[in-house]
Amino acid sequence: MELKAVKFEVVATASGAKIGILKIARPEAMNALNQQVLRDLKLVVADLGAKREIRCLILTGEGEKAFVAGADIKEMENHSSAQAREMALSGQGLLSQLENLPFPVIAVVNGFALGGGLELALACDFILASTKAKWGLPEVTLGLIPGYGGTQRLVRNLGRSLARRVALSGEMFSAQQGYEWGLFAQLSEPGDLMNVAMKTAETLASRAPLAMAWVKEAVNQGDDRTLAEGLKLEAELFGRTFETKDHTEGIKAFIEKRPAAFQGN
Ligand code: CAA
Repeated sequence: MELKAVKFEVVATASGAKIGILKIARPEAMNALNQQVLRDLKLVVADLGAKREIRCLILTGEGEKAFVAGADIKEMENHSSAQAREMALSGQGLLSQLENLPFPVIAVVNGFALGGGLELALACDFILASTKAKWGLPEVTLGLIPGYGGTQRLVRNLGRSLARRVALSGEMFSAQQGYEWGLFAQLSEPGDLMNVAMKTAETLASRAPLAMAWVKEAVNQGDDRTLAEGLKLEAELFGRTFETKDHTEGIKAFIEKRPAAFQGN
């Protein structure tokens, strides 16, 4: 897999669990999502879907300044309406694939997360941010609306009134504001951010992999269901956990007062 605008590596934790680190590497353009970045991200995310050994993915941007400053504005200059629609559908498809990976994904927001950059972070399970991060949906300042899920996922995360405030104002918000509104799980000084992310990833990597995959399935699919249908799905998946060896190990380890060693089966 030849990657030009993103970097991907797999590192092992002390306990041997494998964690993917995916970095958008276009710092000269604030890691804006141009066609090359999107192409590379699609390759990595499609490949990750099949990689059962990965326990957690960290997604971040290269450099000191930006996580991702949105879709590439220069590339959009001559788009027709049909091309814009196609671009939105394609980006949304990628973000949905990322959201539905069967292991937790941590967005590490090391700087600007604007427009498509915030939308990318919203497709992740946790957002850890630098105290210097700035975020928002500036599309209305360009005469556009968010196209990579911002009007949908931000409402689900923050509720309608805050989401409307962010998307209608086009304002840039501070990291502290993002933390207070519950968008960011944790804030860290820029120099500590990756260490904090690795520790979080290590903790997640110690949990039962199939249980985490099914929590994600229940939460993500629950968005599109009535409460009754969502509860039915939850009961079905809860039942399925009792077919796994990991559930036997988890319960045994609790009774024996020792940490569980999950195998993902
Ligand atoms: N697209 C293309 N290039 C971008 C970019 C973007 N989204 N964001 C930054 N860049 C480029 C700049 O053009 C500049 O390139 P040059 O050196 O060639 O001029 C380089 O990155 C550095 O940026 P600045 O000089 O602007 O840096 P700054 O520190 O003064 O400002 C910033 C940083 C506030 C992030 C500013 O660059 C900015 O406002 N960027 C655009 C943010 C934005 O509007 N994002 C939404 C895009 S639309 C979208 O995402 C639609 C969607 O939902 C799918």
